[in-house]
This record gives sequence, structure tokens and C-alpha cells, in this order.
Amino acid sequence: MGPIPFLTHASHFTQQDESRKFLYYISTPLSKSVESGSFFLRGKISHMKTKKKMIVGNWKMNPATMDESKKIIKGITKAAEAAKKVDVVVCPPFIFLTEVKKAIAKAKIALGSQDIYFEDAGSRTGFVSPVQVAGVGTKYTIIGHSERRDRGETDEMVNQKISAALRNGLTPIFCIGEKERHSNGDYLEHISMQIQKGFAAIAKTDLQKVVIAYEPVWAIGAKTAMTPHDIYEMVLYIKKVLREKYDAIVSESVAVLYGGSANAENAEAIIKDGEVDGLLVGREALVPENFSKMILVANNIKAKK
Ligand code: PGA
Repeated sequence: MGPIPFLTHASHFTQQDESRKFLYYISTPLSKSVESGSFFLRGKISHMKTKKKMIVGNWKMNPATMDESKKIIKGITKAAEAAKKVDVVVCPPFIFLTEVKKAIAKAKIALGSQDIYFEDAGSRTGFVSPVQVAGVGTKYTIIGHSERRDRGETDEMVNQKISAALRNGLTPIFCIGEKERHSNGDYLEHISMQIQKGFAAIAKTDLQKVVIAYEPVWAIGAKTAMTPHDIYEMVLYIKKVLREKYDAIVSESVAVLYGGSANAENAEAIIKDGEVDGLLVGREALVPENFSKMILVANNIKAKK
């Protein structure tokens, strides 16, 4: 990506003018092939089709016992059932996958893992293969979460894991996000690079099976989430990168979630004004009452015309 002139002095685009210019810049098609498509109008995300919203719970290394896992499932089943327009996914630790699968047997809840290894089988002590994960009825897998990247997971490994997931019929929830919001706009480069590398050699046709979770690392486990306005800018930017790498149809069809201190109070504004397709939820996914509220909030948000 070339330089973004007005970004050099636009620190977080608090001024309306800068903000408008930024939205215009990131939403203007660059390559000839998509100009004719014109899916974007001056910073507005057009909605070619109404996607279902998604609320994904990333339980991380919680809870301590299977009984507690079952309690969480019990506590969110009603909301998931009522929320016809929302895909609800829970991602427990590997050790609970099989039992949680049983617990959700009659519920409108899908199962996801928090990671997979990128090879299907072999002498890999302590790892869990995508074949095994898919074999116990898992439909989704989180890939490239910042807490794994922090432990040495590289973009290349993330890319291999996305391939491995797709090869085994799992929907990757591909996490991207900057560690810091540099005032010179470097974080945009970082996001672009994560997408380019993560999707290296991933076919256009496979993109329909991928979900992107934009999670600014500084907002994960924090006190407050990113503002809906800033999320909206980032969604536009992610779609621009996808449009340039693939095309406008792909960029519109890939679901983009937000993650990082999402809760029952901010969920509505984030989904509505941030124009995301849903949320990847950490801490609040362990509190059934709050997670249920988020599911219902997502269900009540009307699609923009
Ligand atoms: P958080 O975690 O909701 O607790 O901030 C989000 C995540 O890490 O996916």
C-alpha cells in the first residue's frame, strides 16, 4: 500500500474533516477491476446481502471444570434459541470439546476450537490436529489469536493453519489486530500485512468460508473497547485490503467481527455503528447472563438499508 498523505498528521481522526477524508480514502476503489463494481460509496459500506450476525465466545483457559462449562451452556441456550438471526459459537478449551458438543446437542449453538495444529497427523507431542478437532463435531476454529501470536505464532503458521482448517471443513476465525495505534498510521500497514500473509495462497472461493475477527490487541482484556467510529474505519480498511487482494464481492461477503472488551453494554453500538457482523467475546462469554444479552442485542439489530 502506498503512503496515506493525510494520515501523517491525523492522530486517530478525531477531527471530522480528517475523519471524512480517511473514510473516503479507505473506501475508494484503487484497482480498475473493482471500480466498475462500485460497491462502496464515500465511506459507506454497502450491504449486498444481509449476513447473519455472529456472537462467538472465546473461553480461553476457562472454566476450571466440565461442570462449569455445562453451566455456561445451560445459561446461554435460551438466548441462542430465541436469536434466530444470530449464529452463536462457543470455543471451549480442547479438553472440553467433546463434552460441550454433547451439551449443545439440542441447542442452537455451534462449537469452535481455540486453535489447531497445521498438520493433519504425525509425531507432534501435545498438539491437536484439525482432523481430530473436526472429528468431534467442531465447526469453527479461532486462528492467530494475539495470545498465541504472543507465544511465537508467526503469520506463516497462521497461514498454514487457515489452510489446514479449510482442508478439514472448519471455518477459520482469523484474528488480526494491531498492538498499538501509532499516530502515523503504521497500524494500517500492519493489518494489511497480517491479511496478506494470513491469506497467502488462499483461493478466492475459500474466502466465503472464512471469518475475520478484528481485535486490536490493546483492547483485549482491557477496561474499554475501541470506539465504534474507529472500528468502522478499520472495517472499511480491512474490506479495502480484501478488495485489492481479491475483489469487491469477496470483500463484501467475508464476515468481519470485532473483539476486545466487548460487553452487554457496548455490543449494540459496536455492531450497529462499527458495522461489524458480530463479536468475538472473551471474559463476558463466561458470564451466561451477559453473553445471552449480547446474543439478543445482536438479534435485534436491523440490517442497514
Ligand atoms: P475480551 O477478550 O473480550 O476479554 O477483551 C477478547 C478476545 O481475546 O478474544
